[in-house]
Formats: sequence, C-alpha cells, structure tokens
Amino acid sequence: MPLLTWTPSFSVGIQSIDLQHQRLVEMINNLHEAMAVGKGKDAVGPILDGLVEYAQVHFAMEEKLMQKYNYLEYRHHKDEHDEFVKKVGALQKQYQTTSVGLTVPVMQFLKEWLTNHIMGTDKRYIETFRKNGVV
Ligand code: FEO
Repeated sequence: MPLLTWTPSFSVGIQSIDLQHQRLVEMINNLHEAMAVGKGKDAVGPILDGLVEYAQVHFAMEEKLMQKYNYLEYRHHKDEHDEFVKKVGALQKQYQTTSVGLTVPVMQFLKEWLTNHIMGTDKRYIETFRKNGVV
C-alpha cells in the first residue's frame, strides 16, 4: 500500500505542474515500498538519480514561468530550489561513500519538501500563474 495518495491538498491547480509533482510523490512511495521489504538501501541510489533529473526539468519549468510573469517571490523560490539541488548533491556524495543509513534521511527530506515547498512555497505562485493563463 502506498505511503501517500495524491489528493487535492497537494494540487497547485495547474495540471502541467501537478503532473511533475506527482512524480515526486511516486518516488516517495517507491522508496517507502522498497524500505518495507528491506530493499531501501538498493532503492536510494536510483531515487537520488531520479531527483537530480526531476530538479533539472521541474525547477527549470517553474523558474521560467516565474520570470516570464515577473513573479515577485522569484528570488526566494529559486533559493529553495537551489537548496534542494545542493542537498541532493550532498546525499549523492554520501551515497557514493556508503548507502548505509541513508534511506531514512532521504525519506525525511522528501516528506519535508512535499509539505514545506510543494504545499507551501509552490502554492504562492498559483494566483500569478492562473492570472496569466498557465494550465
Ligand atoms: Fe514545484 Fe518549486 O517546486
């Protein structure tokens, strides 16, 4: 059974962005399922690789839209994205040394990102994006 089920509370109301956020929820569920069957250690590497790719595609999309529509909180939002990239890079470096004990911190990090960034920071751009017809 998945740890998280996508609900309207996760949604920013913009389909193209929700689809990408759903991918992050999927990664959290994949890690959770792997941990439940004692395979968390094997799953962490590919999840971290997936997060690098996710960040490249998703953050670029949001940042482009924020700049295009002169979103006032762009700088702060981008700082959070940059922090995410830095953190994932540090976790990857740690993984190359040892994957032991990394599953719980990665899970914790992703759950916090979902709560604080996707359900917090991201939702603040909704009005600007919608006003400009982003769907
Ligand atoms: Fe959906 Fe700002 O990341």
